[in-house]
Amino acid sequence: MWAAEAITRLDEEKARAGVTPLCEFPLPASWGVRLWFKDESTQPTGSLKHRLARALFADAIAAGRIVAGTTVVDATGGSMAIAQAYFARLLGLPYIAVMPTKSPGEGVEQLGGTCLHVDPPLAIYEHAARLARDVGGHYLDHYRSAATVGWRGGSLADELFEQVVECPHWIVVGAGTGATAAALGRRLRTDGLSGQLAVVDPENSAYFPGWVYGAPDYGTGMPSRIEGIGRPRMEPGFAADLVDLVIPVRDAASVAAARRVRQVTGSSVGPATGTNLWGALELITRMRAQGVRGEVVTLIGDAHPRHLRACHDDDWAESKGFDWRPHEEKLARLLEVNDADGR
Ligand SMILES: Cc1ncc(COP(=O)(O)O)c(C=O)c1O
Repeated sequence: MWAAEAITRLDEEKARAGVTPLCEFPLPASWGVRLWFKDESTQPTGSLKHRLARALFADAIAAGRIVAGTTVVDATGGSMAIAQAYFARLLGLPYIAVMPTKSPGEGVEQLGGTCLHVDPPLAIYEHAARLARDVGGHYLDHYRSAATVGWRGGSLADELFEQVVECPHWIVVGAGTGATAAALGRRLRTDGLSGQLAVVDPENSAYFPGWVYGAPDYGTGMPSRIEGIGRPRMEPGFAADLVDLVIPVRDAASVAAARRVRQVTGSSVGPATGTNLWGALELITRMRAQGVRGEVVTLIGDAHPRHLRACHDDDWAESKGFDWRPHEEKLARLLEVNDADGR
């Protein structure tokens, strides 16, 4: 009975969450290219991780790995930990997020979850697995599970292809687990669509070199500084064969572009949304050089007030060594609105 009721609650929550909007990011009209952001920050917990967290709970409940009273554990911070804490509370389950000492645990405790800080950062996985075993709980292991949880039902890809008027020339996303990119890539393939999929990748991440060298086991061993995307190793959910291009993006450029998104939309987006914008603009520049017109779609991956004290804050950015100003100037020059464009 508990499992059936829990799945009903998840379904009801999904219906309440509804469809996230597709919003235009203004570009000079003369470019002949339109850029759209699917705004995942409008999810109830403010990020695209909300969808994956819901799917992970549903999957584990259906498989009998989460039952009434199971302590749910994962190795994660930021938006994923917040989304998981939200679903644990919805289902009345104890929740523990094991995260690196410097990771933002904010939001998890407000939702009734517990944060356990562990060092060094890459020890969180082993620690979370052991903790789940010790308390007889369930380790969600979202990086591994993301490769197998259902990607069709109500996914971001389903919504996006309902919303667009024509198939985008490029779809641009970052990769954390790789689940979002894989869902979009599968959809392009199975529907026989002409659009191409680009993954934007921050410094230190394994996805760019791993994709270039065709090395599924590639690892850098270095954590990404762009919350939500970039990994020290190629994750099993990253479907390299479905990706047409991986674009490396400098972290300082991601910070500058996230600020630009905030200037335009007013939303306190995280740095990964900046990575998305930077990569999308690189592709749009190529399209313009080739005389190609069309649409490009990317994501606002998350927005949260904590980002105001991080990538949108000059002192923070300086203290972390991000030299974002030259990138900010480059963006301003590129997007300079010419009166004749009428925008
Ligand atoms: C903020 C943010 N987090 C995560 C992702 C990707 O997440 P995943 O690969 O786990 O689906 C994106 C994709 O653009 C993003 O913008």
